[in-house]
Amino acid sequence: MAEDLIAVTGATGVVGGAVAALLADAGASTRLVVRDPGRAPELEGAEVRRASGYGDAEEMRAALEGADTLFLVPGREAADRVQQHGTAVDAAVAAGVRHIVYLSAIGAAPDSIWTLVRQHWQTEELIRASGVAWTFPRFNLYMDFIPFMVAADGVIRGPARDGRVAAVMRSDVAAAIAAVLTSEGHEGRIYDLTGPEAFSLAEAAELMSRMTGKPVSFHDETDEEAFASRAGQAPDWEVEGWVSSYWAIRDGLLADVSPHVHQLTGRSPVSLADYLEADPSVLDHVTAEG
Ligand SMILES: NC(=O)c1ccc[n+]([C@@H]2O[C@H](COP(=O)([O-])OP(=O)(O)OC[C@H]3O[C@@H](n4cnc5c(N)ncnc54)[C@H](OP(=O)(O)O)[C@@H]3O)[C@@H](O)[C@H]2O)c1
Repeated sequence: MAEDLIAVTGATGVVGGAVAALLADAGASTRLVVRDPGRAPELEGAEVRRASGYGDAEEMRAALEGADTLFLVPGREAADRVQQHGTAVDAAVAAGVRHIVYLSAIGAAPDSIWTLVRQHWQTEELIRASGVAWTFPRFNLYMDFIPFMVAADGVIRGPARDGRVAAVMRSDVAAAIAAVLTSEGHEGRIYDLTGPEAFSLAEAAELMSRMTGKPVSFHDETDEEAFASRAGQAPDWEVEGWVSSYWAIRDGLLADVSPHVHQLTGRSPVSLADYLEADPSVLDHVTAEG
């Protein structure tokens, strides 16, 4: 039997690109389905097909023809994102894909307080209803973003109170997904991809302050402050998505530490301290003289 062909979306992005590179290292046959082939990574064993977006049924079907497995990276936040995902799922089924691995979000539920996460639940439901085998690795908040939550004045702002978050590096997310895609027995499974510990934003601020020698603090915004400080930066639904990510931290939805990254990859996920020590440049905006 021919080797399985794994279609990888989002390969011009961080998680999809890292998954594609790990699959190439593992000698897998892949097809990178990208919007702009000029930005696709050049990788051993990888062919590249263009589709202008998840919402283009015909281009997605043509790009997925002959693939056995699809790794579907969620699209950029959009009001019609679930519809776009649904079109991509239908196209995958029409193309003969037998297994969809969808990068979802921890706590995916129809009424998640983190409003954007409701779209992940809806997408999971579409995939479950499609009849193909599925696996849902679910991300926690990306740890890579924590340093960039610090504003130019050294303050992290958000209505998170003293809630804790088991944030995870995108490199660990990618490693776990690559493991799912290159081994057997993951159909019908959900994996919670978290870091090795949960911390409050005040603790993260304290750590970043210690590491830079600059004052970094956490300001627990009221909801009114949170909406006002972000007003006009995006449509209302997206601003609510940002603010409600802090509510998810506040309410403990992102606090549980899961063993799944370790179980899938055989190594412990990276901690915030290890990440910052390995790459202090991510705090350059904190250390820069005003
Ligand atoms: N856990 C978290 O904290 C968190 C935070 C932010 C986002 N996310 C979600 O996690 C996903 C993956 O993260 P990442 O860091 O790898 O994102 P990223 O670097 O921005 O990459 C996103 C990839 O998805 C592709 N894409 C976006 N919208 C698409 C669409 N409608 N149709 C087809 N392809 C589309 C992009 O293609 P182009 O290069 O052509 O744009 C890119 O390759 C994001 O897309 C987002 O949904 C999670």
